[in-house]
Amino acid sequence: DAGQKHFGAVMCKSCGMIYTAASPEDEAQHIQHHQRFLEGLRYVGWKKERVVAEYLDGKIILILPDDPKYALKKVEEVRELVDNELGFQQATLSCPGQSKTYMFVSNEKRIVGCLIAEHIRQAFRVLSEPTNQQKFENQELFEYHRAWRCTTMPEEAICGISRIWVFSLMRRKEIASRMVDIVRNTFMYGTCLSKNEIAFSDPTPSGKLFATKYCQTPNFLVYNFIG
Ligand code: ACO
Ligand code: ZN
Repeated sequence: DAGQKHFGAVMCKSCGMIYTAASPEDEAQHIQHHQRFLEGLRYVGWKKERVVAEYLDGKIILILPDDPKYALKKVEEVRELVDNELGFQQATLSCPGQSKTYMFVSNEKRIVGCLIAEHIRQAFRVLSEPTNQQKFENQELFEYHRAWRCTTMPEEAICGISRIWVFSLMRRKEIASRMVDIVRNTFMYGTCLSKNEIAFSDPTPSGKLFATKYCQTPNFLVYNFIG
């Protein structure tokens, strides 16, 4: 049965969507997603772009709230795609006019990573899971649930990562790690933030795995969650 479910499933090599080629509805849905996605992530380049880092495989640009309309429009477009993928449980920005958007642009001029950072004052430490629950977490069922608990005592923090996203076909190439490194270096002028001064907004399961690795502890900081 499990095999049947994926019968005829193909993955589009440009937009990453998995769909059933034999199903007309699926194919129509793919075409719609494909165009919206590729258009949304296309980066034409701006005369006044703020490049904050350059690598062999791309660069990171920073967009600030006072930037020209065309830049903010792109931010909005990308954010919609990201929110769509994250599934909207994401809390809204505490102060949208103050957020800083970092985008990783590939050499092919595509936006393959996006990080929205905001100022925060406090965050909470994720509590380590009891071991039996850790086993649970490997199960598929758990993958789609936000399963973490945190302390009730707030700690001081400075930078909140409201959203972090990397294009599905470009994951595990340290794009997210490099974006967070650059945020820590550029978020506050003249200082480099430590891993204890950044927090993640209501992390998804993959966000949690990433944060655990990046912060080198399962007890990283979180903020913006319900309950
Ligand atoms: N599963 C297990 N470990 C992971 C995963 C994962 N899915 N993602 C990252 N890691 C760990 C690994 O140890 C990895 O190192 P390795 O590849 O050498 O093993 C390390 O983190 C560094 O990973 P990066 O390559 O820097 O991360 P990547 O560029 O793949 O991006 C991200 C990670 C942003 C979570 C990506 O998987 C993604 O976009 N997911 C979908 C959107 C999402 O859920 N975003 C997080 C929401 S939470 C928030 O926005 C605050
Ligand atoms: Zn496609």
